[in-house]
Amino acid sequence: MTKLWGGRFTKQAEEWVDAFGASIPFDQLLVQEDLEGSLAHVSMLAEQEIITGEEAAKITDGLKQLQKKAENGELEYKVENEDIHLNIEKHLIDLIGPVGGKLHTGRSRNDQVATDMHLYVKKQTQEVLTKIHNLQTALVEQAAENVETLIPGYTHLQRAQPVSFAHHLLAYFEMLARDFDRFQDSLKRTNISPLGAGALAGTTFPIDRQKSAESLGFESVYSNSLDAVSDRDFVLEFLSNSSTLMMHLSRFAEELILWSSEEFSFVELDDTFATGSSIMPQKKNPDMAELVRGKTGRVYGSLFSLLTMLKGLPLAYNKDMQEDKEGIFDTVETVKGSLDIFAGMVETMKVQTETMKTAVQSDFSNATELADYLATKGMPFREAHEVVGKLVLQCIDKGIYLLDLPFDNYKEASSLFAEDIYEVLQPETLVARRNSEGGTGFKQVEQAVEYAKEHLKETKE
Ligand code: ARG
Repeated sequence: MTKLWGGRFTKQAEEWVDAFGASIPFDQLLVQEDLEGSLAHVSMLAEQEIITGEEAAKITDGLKQLQKKAENGELEYKVENEDIHLNIEKHLIDLIGPVGGKLHTGRSRNDQVATDMHLYVKKQTQEVLTKIHNLQTALVEQAAENVETLIPGYTHLQRAQPVSFAHHLLAYFEMLARDFDRFQDSLKRTNISPLGAGALAGTTFPIDRQKSAESLGFESVYSNSLDAVSDRDFVLEFLSNSSTLMMHLSRFAEELILWSSEEFSFVELDDTFATGSSIMPQKKNPDMAELVRGKTGRVYGSLFSLLTMLKGLPLAYNKDMQEDKEGIFDTVETVKGSLDIFAGMVETMKVQTETMKTAVQSDFSNATELADYLATKGMPFREAHEVVGKLVLQCIDKGIYLLDLPFDNYKEASSLFAEDIYEVLQPETLVARRNSEGGTGFKQVEQAVEYAKEHLKETKE
Protein backbone atom coordinates (compact mmCIF):
# COMPACT_ATOMS: atom_id res chain seq x y z
CA MET A 1 0.00 0.00 0.00
CA THR A 2 1.51 3.32 -1.08
CA LYS A 3 1.56 6.04 1.52
CA LEU A 4 0.43 9.60 0.88
CA TRP A 5 4.00 10.50 1.81
CA GLY A 6 5.56 7.48 0.05
CA GLY A 7 7.53 9.31 -2.67
CA ARG A 8 11.03 9.04 -1.21
CA PHE A 9 10.63 5.51 0.13
CA THR A 10 11.93 2.43 -1.59
CA LYS A 11 10.42 -0.14 0.75
CA GLN A 12 6.80 -0.92 1.47
CA ALA A 13 5.64 -0.26 5.02
CA GLU A 14 5.37 -3.19 7.41
CA GLU A 15 1.93 -3.71 8.86
CA TRP A 16 3.14 -4.28 12.40
CA VAL A 17 5.24 -1.12 12.35
CA ASP A 18 2.27 0.81 10.97
CA ALA A 19 0.20 -0.48 13.85
CA PHE A 20 2.74 0.80 16.37
CA GLY A 21 2.95 4.24 14.77
CA ALA A 22 -0.71 4.82 14.03
CA SER A 23 -2.87 7.18 16.02
CA ILE A 24 -6.07 6.52 14.09
CA PRO A 25 -7.44 4.07 16.69
CA PHE A 26 -7.79 7.04 19.06
CA ASP A 27 -7.47 10.29 17.10
CA GLN A 28 -10.58 9.45 15.05
CA LEU A 29 -12.28 11.22 17.94
CA LEU A 30 -11.02 14.45 16.33
CA VAL A 31 -12.78 13.83 13.02
CA GLN A 32 -15.17 16.77 13.27
CA GLU A 33 -12.46 19.16 14.44
CA ASP A 34 -10.22 17.99 11.60
CA LEU A 35 -12.93 18.56 9.00
CA GLU A 36 -13.80 21.92 10.49
CA GLY A 37 -10.15 22.98 10.31
CA SER A 38 -9.89 21.82 6.70
CA LEU A 39 -13.04 23.69 5.69
CA ALA A 40 -11.63 26.92 7.13
CA HIS A 41 -8.29 26.30 5.45
CA VAL A 42 -9.76 25.62 2.01
CA SER A 43 -11.98 28.69 2.02
CA MET A 44 -8.96 30.81 2.98
CA LEU A 45 -6.93 29.22 0.14
CA ALA A 46 -9.65 30.25 -2.32
CA GLU A 47 -10.02 33.77 -0.93
CA GLN A 48 -6.28 34.23 -1.26
CA GLU A 49 -6.46 32.83 -4.81
CA ILE A 50 -4.01 30.09 -3.94
CA ILE A 51 -6.50 27.62 -5.40
CA THR A 52 -9.41 28.46 -7.72
CA GLY A 53 -12.98 28.98 -6.55
CA GLU A 54 -13.99 25.91 -8.50
CA GLU A 55 -11.38 23.72 -6.83
CA ALA A 56 -12.36 25.06 -3.44
CA ALA A 57 -16.03 24.32 -4.13
CA LYS A 58 -15.21 20.71 -4.99
CA ILE A 59 -13.07 20.25 -1.90
CA THR A 60 -15.65 21.92 0.34
CA ASP A 61 -18.39 19.74 -1.05
CA GLY A 62 -16.26 16.64 -0.47
CA LEU A 63 -15.43 17.67 3.09
CA LYS A 64 -19.10 18.29 3.84
CA GLN A 65 -20.00 14.85 2.56
CA LEU A 66 -17.35 13.43 4.86
CA GLN A 67 -18.80 15.43 7.76
CA LYS A 68 -22.19 13.77 7.20
CA LYS A 69 -20.63 10.35 6.90
CA ALA A 70 -18.67 10.88 10.09
CA GLU A 71 -21.78 11.99 11.94
CA ASN A 72 -23.54 8.81 10.86
CA GLY A 73 -20.55 6.69 11.79
CA GLU A 74 -20.09 5.66 8.16
CA LEU A 75 -16.44 6.62 7.76
CA GLU A 76 -14.03 3.76 7.69
CA TYR A 77 -10.59 4.33 9.14
CA LYS A 78 -7.48 2.41 8.16
CA VAL A 79 -4.38 1.88 10.26
CA GLU A 80 -2.26 1.99 7.11
CA ASN A 81 -3.37 5.64 6.76
CA GLU A 82 -1.82 6.33 10.14
CA ASP A 83 -3.89 9.15 11.58
CA ILE A 84 -7.11 11.10 11.25
CA HIS A 85 -5.53 13.68 8.95
CA LEU A 86 -4.27 11.20 6.36
CA ASN A 87 -7.40 9.07 6.62
CA ILE A 88 -9.55 12.10 5.81
CA GLU A 89 -7.28 13.25 3.00
CA LYS A 90 -7.38 9.78 1.50
CA HIS A 91 -11.18 9.67 1.73
CA LEU A 92 -11.39 13.10 0.12
CA ILE A 93 -9.20 12.12 -2.82
CA ASP A 94 -11.16 8.88 -3.27
CA LEU A 95 -14.35 10.92 -3.26
CA ILE A 96 -13.50 13.91 -5.51
CA GLY A 97 -10.34 12.85 -7.30
CA PRO A 98 -6.81 14.35 -7.43
CA VAL A 99 -8.10 17.89 -6.79
CA GLY A 100 -8.56 16.72 -3.18
CA GLY A 101 -4.77 16.74 -2.98
CA LYS A 102 -4.84 20.55 -3.15
CA LEU A 103 -6.34 20.78 0.34
CA HIS A 104 -2.95 20.31 1.95
CA THR A 105 -1.44 23.34 0.15
CA GLY A 106 0.33 25.65 2.59
CA ARG A 107 -0.40 23.36 5.49
CA SER A 108 1.34 20.56 7.38
CA ARG A 109 -0.03 17.87 9.62
CA ASN A 110 1.87 19.65 12.37
CA ASP A 111 -0.22 22.81 12.33
CA GLN A 112 -3.25 20.69 11.42
CA VAL A 113 -3.06 18.46 14.49
CA ALA A 114 -2.36 21.45 16.72
CA THR A 115 -5.46 23.17 15.29
CA ASP A 116 -7.59 20.07 15.90
CA MET A 117 -6.37 19.88 19.49
CA HIS A 118 -7.08 23.56 20.11
CA LEU A 119 -10.61 23.20 18.76
CA TYR A 120 -11.15 20.06 20.83
CA VAL A 121 -9.80 21.42 24.12
CA LYS A 122 -11.76 24.65 23.67
CA LYS A 123 -15.04 22.79 23.12
CA GLN A 124 -14.42 20.41 26.00
CA THR A 125 -13.46 23.24 28.34
CA GLN A 126 -16.79 24.88 27.64
CA GLU A 127 -18.61 21.63 28.39
CA VAL A 128 -16.69 21.17 31.63
CA LEU A 129 -17.58 24.73 32.67
CA THR A 130 -21.28 23.97 32.18
CA LYS A 131 -20.99 20.80 34.22
CA ILE A 132 -19.14 22.52 37.07
CA HIS A 133 -21.93 25.07 37.07
CA ASN A 134 -24.55 22.30 37.29
CA LEU A 135 -22.83 20.76 40.29
CA GLN A 136 -22.53 24.15 41.96
CA THR A 137 -26.27 24.62 41.42
CA ALA A 138 -27.02 21.30 43.10
CA LEU A 139 -24.79 22.29 46.03
CA VAL A 140 -26.49 25.64 46.51
CA GLU A 141 -29.92 24.01 46.42
CA GLN A 142 -28.93 21.55 49.15
CA ALA A 143 -27.25 24.33 51.10
CA ALA A 144 -30.36 26.53 50.97
CA GLU A 145 -32.34 23.68 52.55
CA ASN A 146 -29.79 23.06 55.27
CA VAL A 147 -28.68 26.38 56.69
CA GLU A 148 -29.88 25.38 60.16
CA THR A 149 -28.93 21.74 59.93
CA LEU A 150 -26.02 21.15 62.28
CA ILE A 151 -23.21 18.69 61.63
CA PRO A 152 -20.05 18.05 63.63
CA GLY A 153 -17.14 19.90 62.09
CA TYR A 154 -13.88 17.91 62.20
CA THR A 155 -10.16 18.47 62.34
CA HIS A 156 -7.90 15.39 62.32
CA LEU A 157 -11.23 13.57 61.76
CA GLN A 158 -11.95 14.25 65.46
CA ARG A 159 -15.03 16.21 66.41
CA ALA A 160 -13.97 19.86 66.60
CA GLN A 161 -16.81 22.38 66.51
CA PRO A 162 -20.33 22.04 65.14
CA VAL A 163 -21.07 23.81 61.86
CA SER A 164 -24.03 24.45 59.62
CA PHE A 165 -24.30 21.68 57.02
CA ALA A 166 -24.86 24.37 54.39
CA HIS A 167 -21.54 25.92 55.40
CA HIS A 168 -19.83 22.58 54.81
CA LEU A 169 -21.46 22.18 51.39
CA LEU A 170 -20.59 25.73 50.42
CA ALA A 171 -16.92 25.02 51.06
CA TYR A 172 -17.12 22.70 48.03
CA PHE A 173 -18.98 25.40 46.13
CA GLU A 174 -15.98 27.67 46.69
CA MET A 175 -13.49 25.06 45.50
CA LEU A 176 -15.57 24.55 42.38
CA ALA A 177 -15.74 28.30 41.82
CA ARG A 178 -11.94 28.35 41.72
CA ASP A 179 -11.95 25.37 39.34
CA PHE A 180 -14.42 27.19 37.13
CA ASP A 181 -12.20 30.24 37.16
CA ARG A 182 -9.12 28.24 36.21
CA PHE A 183 -10.81 26.50 33.29
CA GLN A 184 -12.26 29.79 32.09
CA ASP A 185 -8.91 31.50 32.32
CA SER A 186 -7.23 28.71 30.38
CA LEU A 187 -9.54 29.44 27.45
CA LYS A 188 -7.49 32.59 26.79
CA ARG A 189 -4.49 30.43 25.97
CA THR A 190 -6.49 27.77 24.16
CA ASN A 191 -8.40 30.10 21.90
CA ILE A 192 -5.42 30.77 19.62
CA SER A 193 -4.90 29.49 16.10
CA PRO A 194 -1.76 27.59 15.11
CA LEU A 195 -3.10 27.08 11.58
CA GLY A 196 -0.77 28.38 8.93
CA ALA A 197 2.39 27.74 10.93
CA GLY A 198 3.09 24.98 8.43
CA ALA A 199 5.49 22.24 9.41
CA LEU A 200 7.43 24.68 11.59
CA ALA A 201 8.55 27.67 9.57
CA GLY A 202 5.48 29.17 7.92
CA THR A 203 4.89 28.91 4.18
CA THR A 204 5.73 30.61 0.88
CA PHE A 205 2.05 30.69 -0.10
CA PRO A 206 0.28 34.01 0.49
CA ILE A 207 -1.99 32.59 3.17
CA ASP A 208 -4.04 34.72 5.55
CA ARG A 209 -3.87 33.22 9.03
CA GLN A 210 -6.24 35.78 10.48
CA LYS A 211 -8.95 34.68 8.07
CA SER A 212 -8.80 30.98 8.90
CA ALA A 213 -8.50 31.80 12.60
CA GLU A 214 -11.57 33.97 12.44
CA SER A 215 -13.68 31.41 10.63
CA LEU A 216 -12.71 28.84 13.27
CA GLY A 217 -13.75 31.22 16.06
CA PHE A 218 -10.22 31.71 17.42
CA GLU A 219 -9.47 35.03 19.06
CA SER A 220 -5.94 35.39 17.73
CA VAL A 221 -3.11 33.53 16.01
CA TYR A 222 0.19 32.24 17.42
CA SER A 223 2.88 34.79 16.69
CA ASN A 224 5.73 32.30 16.31
CA SER A 225 5.40 29.38 13.92
CA LEU A 226 7.81 27.16 15.89
CA ASP A 227 5.87 27.76 19.08
CA ALA A 228 2.55 27.22 17.30
CA VAL A 229 3.36 23.63 16.37
CA SER A 230 5.30 22.76 19.54
CA ASP A 231 3.01 24.18 22.18
CA ARG A 232 0.90 21.79 24.21
CA ASP A 233 0.64 24.05 27.26
CA PHE A 234 -3.10 24.36 26.69
CA VAL A 235 -3.45 20.58 26.99
CA LEU A 236 -1.30 20.60 30.11
CA GLU A 237 -3.44 23.33 31.60
CA PHE A 238 -6.58 21.35 30.95
CA LEU A 239 -5.02 18.33 32.66
CA SER A 240 -3.73 20.36 35.55
CA ASN A 241 -7.07 22.08 36.07
CA SER A 242 -8.74 18.69 35.83
CA SER A 243 -6.35 17.25 38.41
CA THR A 244 -7.23 19.96 40.92
CA LEU A 245 -10.93 19.55 40.18
CA MET A 246 -10.71 15.78 40.61
CA MET A 247 -8.81 16.25 43.88
CA HIS A 248 -11.73 18.35 45.12
CA LEU A 249 -14.29 15.80 43.96
CA SER A 250 -12.26 13.01 45.51
CA ARG A 251 -12.22 14.73 48.90
CA PHE A 252 -15.96 15.23 48.63
CA ALA A 253 -16.36 11.60 47.56
CA GLU A 254 -14.43 10.51 50.63
CA GLU A 255 -16.82 12.49 52.84
CA LEU A 256 -19.90 11.09 51.15
CA ILE A 257 -18.53 7.59 51.60
CA LEU A 258 -17.91 8.20 55.29
CA TRP A 259 -21.22 9.97 55.80
CA SER A 260 -23.19 7.16 54.21
CA SER A 261 -21.55 4.52 56.43
CA GLU A 262 -23.51 3.05 59.34
CA GLU A 263 -21.03 4.72 61.70
CA PHE A 264 -21.87 8.24 60.52
CA SER A 265 -25.28 7.84 58.86
CA PHE A 266 -25.32 11.55 58.01
CA VAL A 267 -26.60 11.08 54.45
CA GLU A 268 -28.27 8.41 52.44
CA LEU A 269 -27.30 8.31 48.79
CA ASP A 270 -30.05 7.70 46.27
CA ASP A 271 -30.33 4.11 45.02
CA THR A 272 -29.35 5.33 41.54
CA PHE A 273 -25.82 6.00 42.73
CA ALA A 274 -25.35 2.93 44.89
CA THR A 275 -24.96 -0.77 44.21
CA GLY A 276 -25.64 -3.93 46.15
CA SER A 277 -23.41 -6.83 47.02
CA SER A 278 -23.59 -10.16 45.23
CA ILE A 279 -23.29 -12.00 48.54
CA MET A 280 -24.40 -9.69 51.38
CA PRO A 281 -28.07 -8.84 50.91
CA GLN A 282 -28.04 -5.89 53.32
CA LYS A 283 -25.35 -3.93 51.47
CA LYS A 284 -25.77 -0.58 49.78
CA ASN A 285 -22.38 0.53 48.55
CA PRO A 286 -21.47 4.10 47.52
CA ASP A 287 -19.75 2.79 44.35
CA MET A 288 -20.08 5.93 42.26
CA ALA A 289 -18.43 8.12 44.90
CA GLU A 290 -15.70 5.49 45.27
CA LEU A 291 -15.15 5.45 41.53
CA VAL A 292 -14.76 9.21 41.34
CA ARG A 293 -12.18 8.95 44.14
CA GLY A 294 -10.46 6.11 42.29
CA LYS A 295 -10.52 7.74 38.86
CA THR A 296 -8.70 10.78 40.23
CA GLY A 297 -5.49 8.77 39.89
CA ARG A 298 -5.72 8.34 36.14
CA VAL A 299 -6.20 12.08 35.66
CA TYR A 300 -3.04 12.83 37.66
CA GLY A 301 -1.35 10.12 35.59
CA SER A 302 -2.25 11.85 32.34
CA LEU A 303 -0.89 15.15 33.62
CA PHE A 304 2.39 13.50 34.54
CA SER A 305 2.63 11.57 31.26
CA LEU A 306 2.30 14.75 29.28
CA LEU A 307 4.71 16.76 31.42
CA THR A 308 7.26 13.98 31.12
CA MET A 309 6.68 13.46 27.41
CA LEU A 310 7.26 17.14 26.66
CA LYS A 311 10.25 17.84 28.87
CA GLY A 312 12.97 16.56 26.58
CA LEU A 313 11.60 17.60 23.19
CA PRO A 314 13.69 19.83 20.96
CA LEU A 315 11.71 22.25 18.81
CA ALA A 316 9.59 21.81 16.83
CA TYR A 317 7.23 18.85 16.21
CA ASN A 318 8.32 15.39 17.34
CA LYS A 319 6.30 12.23 16.96
CA ASP A 320 6.35 11.88 20.75
CA MET A 321 3.67 14.56 20.70
CA GLN A 322 1.16 12.10 19.29
CA GLU A 323 1.14 10.81 22.88
CA ASP A 324 -0.71 13.94 24.01
CA LYS A 325 -4.05 12.51 22.95
CA GLU A 326 -5.16 9.45 24.87
CA GLY A 327 -4.51 11.14 28.21
CA ILE A 328 -6.65 14.12 27.47
CA PHE A 329 -9.41 12.11 25.78
CA ASP A 330 -9.59 9.90 28.86
CA THR A 331 -9.46 12.90 31.19
CA VAL A 332 -12.31 14.64 29.37
CA GLU A 333 -14.52 11.55 29.78
CA THR A 334 -13.50 11.07 33.40
CA VAL A 335 -14.04 14.69 34.42
CA LYS A 336 -17.35 15.11 32.62
CA GLY A 337 -18.63 11.79 33.95
CA SER A 338 -17.52 12.57 37.51
CA LEU A 339 -19.18 15.99 37.46
CA ASP A 340 -22.46 14.51 36.21
CA ILE A 341 -22.38 11.77 38.83
CA PHE A 342 -21.69 14.28 41.57
CA ALA A 343 -24.45 16.67 40.51
CA GLY A 344 -26.88 13.75 40.61
CA MET A 345 -25.63 12.46 43.96
CA VAL A 346 -25.77 15.86 45.64
CA GLU A 347 -29.17 16.68 44.21
CA THR A 348 -30.77 13.44 45.39
CA MET A 349 -28.94 12.66 48.63
CA LYS A 350 -31.10 12.45 51.72
CA VAL A 351 -29.71 14.48 54.59
CA GLN A 352 -30.24 12.67 57.90
CA THR A 353 -30.79 15.80 59.98
CA GLU A 354 -31.79 13.92 63.13
CA THR A 355 -28.62 11.81 63.21
CA MET A 356 -26.55 14.91 62.64
CA LYS A 357 -28.38 16.66 65.47
CA THR A 358 -27.84 13.77 67.87
CA ALA A 359 -24.18 13.75 66.86
CA VAL A 360 -23.58 17.40 67.77
CA GLN A 361 -25.30 16.85 71.12
CA SER A 362 -23.21 13.87 72.06
CA ASP A 363 -19.70 15.24 72.03
CA PHE A 364 -17.40 17.89 73.41
CA SER A 365 -17.51 20.10 70.34
CA ASN A 366 -18.93 22.91 72.52
CA ALA A 367 -15.80 23.04 74.69
CA THR A 368 -14.24 25.97 72.80
CA GLU A 369 -17.38 27.94 73.50
CA LEU A 370 -16.91 27.45 77.21
CA ALA A 371 -13.31 28.67 77.06
CA ASP A 372 -14.42 31.68 74.99
CA TYR A 373 -17.06 32.33 77.67
CA LEU A 374 -14.44 32.62 80.40
CA ALA A 375 -12.16 34.67 78.17
CA THR A 376 -14.99 37.12 77.45
CA LYS A 377 -15.35 37.53 81.21
CA GLY A 378 -11.71 38.51 81.52
CA MET A 379 -9.80 35.26 82.15
CA PRO A 380 -6.72 34.93 79.88
CA PHE A 381 -7.62 32.43 77.13
CA ARG A 382 -4.75 30.09 77.99
CA GLU A 383 -6.08 29.75 81.58
CA ALA A 384 -9.63 29.33 80.34
CA HIS A 385 -8.43 26.53 78.05
CA GLU A 386 -6.91 24.76 81.05
CA VAL A 387 -10.06 25.16 83.22
CA VAL A 388 -12.31 23.77 80.49
CA GLY A 389 -9.88 20.95 79.77
CA LYS A 390 -10.23 19.86 83.39
CA LEU A 391 -14.04 20.05 83.18
CA VAL A 392 -13.98 17.87 80.05
CA LEU A 393 -11.86 15.35 81.97
CA GLN A 394 -14.42 15.31 84.81
CA CYS A 395 -17.19 14.64 82.28
CA ILE A 396 -15.23 11.82 80.64
CA ASP A 397 -14.77 10.23 84.08
CA LYS A 398 -18.49 10.45 84.74
CA GLY A 399 -19.46 9.36 81.21
CA ILE A 400 -21.42 12.57 80.54
CA TYR A 401 -21.13 15.72 78.35
CA LEU A 402 -20.66 19.36 79.33
CA LEU A 403 -24.39 20.11 79.20
CA ASP A 404 -25.02 17.33 81.76
CA LEU A 405 -22.45 18.53 84.29
CA PRO A 406 -24.09 20.03 87.43
CA PHE A 407 -23.63 23.76 87.99
CA ASP A 408 -21.75 23.16 91.25
CA ASN A 409 -18.88 21.66 89.32
CA TYR A 410 -18.71 24.74 87.12
CA LYS A 411 -18.80 27.07 90.11
CA GLU A 412 -15.99 25.12 91.70
CA ALA A 413 -13.89 25.42 88.56
CA SER A 414 -14.36 29.19 88.24
CA SER A 415 -16.46 31.87 89.89
CA LEU A 416 -16.89 33.46 86.47
CA PHE A 417 -19.43 30.80 85.41
CA ALA A 418 -23.12 31.74 85.66
CA GLU A 419 -26.25 29.68 84.95
CA ASP A 420 -26.43 31.01 81.39
CA ILE A 421 -23.67 28.56 80.38
CA TYR A 422 -26.34 25.91 79.73
CA GLU A 423 -27.79 28.15 77.02
CA VAL A 424 -24.37 29.12 75.70
CA LEU A 425 -23.40 25.46 75.34
CA GLN A 426 -26.38 24.56 73.13
CA PRO A 427 -25.03 23.69 69.67
CA GLU A 428 -27.59 25.94 67.92
CA THR A 429 -26.61 28.90 70.11
CA LEU A 430 -22.93 28.50 69.58
CA VAL A 431 -23.18 28.04 65.83
CA ALA A 432 -25.48 31.06 65.57
CA ARG A 433 -22.89 33.15 67.41
CA ARG A 434 -20.00 32.34 65.05
CA ASN A 435 -20.91 35.35 62.98
CA SER A 436 -17.44 36.50 62.01
CA GLU A 437 -17.00 37.07 58.29
CA GLY A 438 -16.96 33.72 56.47
CA GLY A 439 -17.87 31.86 59.68
CA THR A 440 -20.61 29.31 60.21
CA GLY A 441 -23.07 31.66 61.98
CA PHE A 442 -26.53 31.27 60.45
CA LYS A 443 -26.61 34.88 59.27
CA GLN A 444 -23.26 34.46 57.53
CA VAL A 445 -24.38 31.23 55.91
CA GLU A 446 -27.69 32.69 54.74
CA GLN A 447 -25.73 35.48 53.14
CA ALA A 448 -23.28 33.00 51.62
CA VAL A 449 -26.18 31.11 50.03
CA GLU A 450 -27.40 34.37 48.49
CA TYR A 451 -23.93 35.25 47.22
CA ALA A 452 -23.58 31.80 45.75
CA LYS A 453 -26.88 32.18 43.91
CA GLU A 454 -25.75 35.55 42.55
CA HIS A 455 -22.41 34.07 41.52
CA LEU A 456 -24.21 31.31 39.63
CA LYS A 457 -26.22 33.88 37.69
CA GLU A 458 -23.05 35.76 36.79
CA THR A 459 -21.17 32.68 35.60
CA LYS A 460 -24.03 31.19 33.62
CA GLU A 461 -23.09 31.41 29.96
N1 ARG B 1 -0.70 11.82 14.29
C1 ARG B 1 0.17 12.91 14.51
C2 ARG B 1 0.04 13.41 15.95
O1 ARG B 1 -0.93 13.10 16.52
C3 ARG B 1 -0.15 14.03 13.57
C4 ARG B 1 1.01 14.90 13.24
C5 ARG B 1 1.98 14.13 12.46
N2 ARG B 1 3.04 14.93 11.92
C6 ARG B 1 4.14 14.41 11.47
N3 ARG B 1 5.02 15.21 11.01
N4 ARG B 1 4.37 13.11 11.51
O2 ARG B 1 0.89 14.07 16.46
